[in-house]
Amino acid sequence: MKHTLFGIDNLDVYLVLGVLVFFGLVETISGQLRRSKRSPSDWIQEVGSFLVLSTVIKPLIVISVLLIGNTFFSASANILSEYTLFLVLIPYLLMDDLLQYWYHRSAHEYPFLWKLHRAHHQAEEMGFFVSYRNAGLYYLLMPNIWWIGWITFLGGGKAVALGLVLKQAIIISSHSTIKWDKPFYNSKWLRPIIQVIERIIVTPAFHHAHHGKSKIDAVSDPNSNFGNMFSIWDQLFGTAVYSHQFPSEYGLQRASNDHWSAAYLYPLITSKDERSELAKGFTHQKTVRNEPIMVELEKGENYLYCRCGCSQTQPFCDGSHHGTKHTPMLFEAKRTGPAKLCNCKKTKTGPFCDHSHLGIKS
Ligand code: FES
Repeated sequence: MKHTLFGIDNLDVYLVLGVLVFFGLVETISGQLRRSKRSPSDWIQEVGSFLVLSTVIKPLIVISVLLIGNTFFSASANILSEYTLFLVLIPYLLMDDLLQYWYHRSAHEYPFLWKLHRAHHQAEEMGFFVSYRNAGLYYLLMPNIWWIGWITFLGGGKAVALGLVLKQAIIISSHSTIKWDKPFYNSKWLRPIIQVIERIIVTPAFHHAHHGKSKIDAVSDPNSNFGNMFSIWDQLFGTAVYSHQFPSEYGLQRASNDHWSAAYLYPLITSKDERSELAKGFTHQKTVRNEPIMVELEKGENYLYCRCGCSQTQPFCDGSHHGTKHTPMLFEAKRTGPAKLCNCKKTKTGPFCDHSHLGIKS
């Protein structure tokens, strides 16, 4: 689909590629890429997914919408073309990002969507290409790509092209290892500036926290910061966490060895690794018991208490809650010694047992 932006054909495509090349070069020059421990499977997933998304999935969705639009709603074709670029751009981008916020959040809260998004969080290091690491079906179902199709049909192609460049620049930057916002947090003069910026757009610190392995480091929170371009949705819907720091570990708590074909083509191809959520017939087994568990805690240490009831390392979280609305509870031990932690998950004084299990009929 050819767009002419500011008098140049396909300028949007060149600009998005330019942003990718820019971040790729900076990561290379800074040595980040040389130190990368990415496996060939990681590269196949990240680069392959980007290529298929740009050359197959997006055009396929847009062409499908144009066909549907021209067949059933031909009177509405190009009705936006009489409006100025910026009058279309702002509402288009806001709706696009709102749709993606809810889609992304749903992918963390519902098991099937989580399996399509899981590959994105399996990456154990950040980088500009991680942005595109998801199953193919994840993109096919992505509502904001369909939204792009409808705005194009309605004549807002230029707004789509410009919006795509602005959005991709922010998304690629927030996944990159180039932590451009870090100097702002470290300077008392610059901090007020970043505190305004991060309330509007997604910054690297904001999004890296979403990719951190678990809340145990008091920096990461994979169940927060779902925004893609704007952080306003997280503030509006109560999922924003501003730690202003970067996680020490990225990836998933529950390690598994999935071939790239399973990660990209699930559910057509499933994982051979039985530990993986992408394995055929995999379900999380409940591990709750109607009795508390005694553990030894150490004063000042952080612990992550499981609230979903599926952890294999009860009473502590092992990441099994991904793909559900449950989240673990982070707590700091106030004293060293034995503690009775709830394992029926009914306590009102979590993580400690309040004897609620005595009221459960077996
Ligand atoms: S495994 Fe994390 S909350 Fe249960």
